Amino acid sequence: MPNSFDVARPVLKLGHLTALAEGSQRVIYVHPHDPNKLVKVLKTIPDTKGRARLATFTERHFPRIRTRWARKEYTEYLRMMLRITVSDVPPITHMFGFTFTDLGLGCVTENVQDDGLGQTLYAMRDTLTAPDLALLNDTISRLYRYDIRASDMTARNFVFGHRDYAGTKGPRECVLADGFGDIHAIPVRSWGRWANGLGLDDSCKRLAVKTGLQWDAKHRQFTQS
Ligand SMILES: Nc1ncnc2c1ncn2[C@@H]1O[C@H](COP(=O)(O)OP(=O)(O)OP(=O)(O)O)[C@@H](O)[C@H]1O
Ligand SMILES: [Mg+2]
Repeated sequence: MPNSFDVARPVLKLGHLTALAEGSQRVIYVHPHDPNKLVKVLKTIPDTKGRARLATFTERHFPRIRTRWARKEYTEYLRMMLRITVSDVPPITHMFGFTFTDLGLGCVTENVQDDGLGQTLYAMRDTLTAPDLALLNDTISRLYRYDIRASDMTARNFVFGHRDYAGTKGPRECVLADGFGDIHAIPVRSWGRWANGLGLDDSCKRLAVKTGLQWDAKHRQFTQS
């Protein structure tokens, strides 16, 4: 008589699907049973490129580093959710846990969509409208207000689009979909709100250089010339 551990359990099938997007570390799929959710699967070491490939060299020898991002990301999400109230709008994506897939462990998160794929700040950097700049600045204000530790605030990690709010399409927003959590070897951003504020200042300054926006350090907002 087989016990439950001898039976091959079905896993979420993604292998036959076309990926929605990919980053340097993960491939992104729309959840096959819920289009309002995404499943992010860590790439295999040979599939990673650039900076991530260099990182995988270290990760090969210290495998715990390879999953460190997930621990940091979830810790940050949890830290935020335990502090904010129902009327607050999280500037980062909701995270719904992990699922086993035919491509490896999948991280389930909300889909920021806009007639399909939500557009990143990187894709929109040359054509950013005043209303979208206002959405970005609103998100930046909430990152400071909720003291979110975000160590990788790149233009490709901000996504514009709509989220699902309990079955209803939400308003257009700009959401930080990746890059939150204090991943630095010396976790300076975790020393306190003041230290994280300085870290966010630094990230925003760098984001301005990459996007052609100006960073108004006094008001902690982006402007356009
Ligand atoms: N929640 C989301 N909603 C909509 N699109 C998303 C979402 N998360 C990611 N994306 C899209 O997928 C791309 C890659 O996702 P993500 O940044 O999570 O991957 P990554 O490999 O961890 O990235 P990085 O290269 O920054 O390490 C993003 O640039 C964006 O275009
Ligand atoms: Mg990313």
